[in-house]
Amino acid sequence: MHPVMTRLAKDHLRLVKVLDLFETLLDRFHDGTEPDYHLMSEMLEYMEDYSESVHHPTEELIFERVLASGYERRDVFDVLIRQHAVLGQLNRRFRQSLDGILHEAVLLREDVEAHGRELIAALRAHQRLEDEEAFPIALERLTDDDWMAVEAAAPTRDDPVFGTPDPVRYHALYACFASEARD
Ligand SMILES: [Fe+2]
Ligand SMILES: [Fe+2]
Repeated sequence: MHPVMTRLAKDHLRLVKVLDLFETLLDRFHDGTEPDYHLMSEMLEYMEDYSESVHHPTEELIFERVLASGYERRDVFDVLIRQHAVLGQLNRRFRQSLDGILHEAVLLREDVEAHGRELIAALRAHQRLEDEEAFPIALERLTDDDWMAVEAAAPTRDDPVFGTPDPVRYHALYACFASEARD
C-alpha cells in the first residue's frame, strides 16, 4: 500500500477510538452525569485541528487527482469534499452548545446531545464512504506517479495525540489514550 494511504487508514482507526470515547461521554451526559467537559472540548479541538490541517487536505489531493483522471463517477468524490466542510461546521456547532452549557446559557440538554450524536453519525458515515468506495477507487485508478505527487504535496505534520503528542494542548486526551498512543 502507498505510504499516504497507510497513513490515512491509520488516521481512520484512530478516529474510531476517539468517536467511541465521544459516544461514552455523550452517554454519560444523557444519563445526567456531567461528563468531563475539558476532555470533551480537547477532543473536539483535536478532531477539527488534525482533520482540517492534515487529514482532509491529504484526502482532497487524492480525490482531486481521481477527478482529474476523468473518472466518470464524480458524485462520490464531490460529496466527500463537500462533507469535509459540513463536518467542520457540525464540530463548531457542538462546541458552541457545550460552551453554552459551561456559561450557563439556557439550552435544552436534548438539543446539545442531538448535536453531538449528529456529528458522530456524520463522521462515521463519511469514513465508511471513504473506506468502502472512495479509497478502493483511488487505489485502482491512480498511478505510481500520482501517488508520488500526492505524497510530495501532502501535509507532513504528525498526529498531535497518537503520533508526536502535544502534551500541553491535548493533555487530557493524550492521557486517555496514553497506553495506545504511539502505536
Ligand atoms: Fe474525509
Ligand atoms: Fe477520512
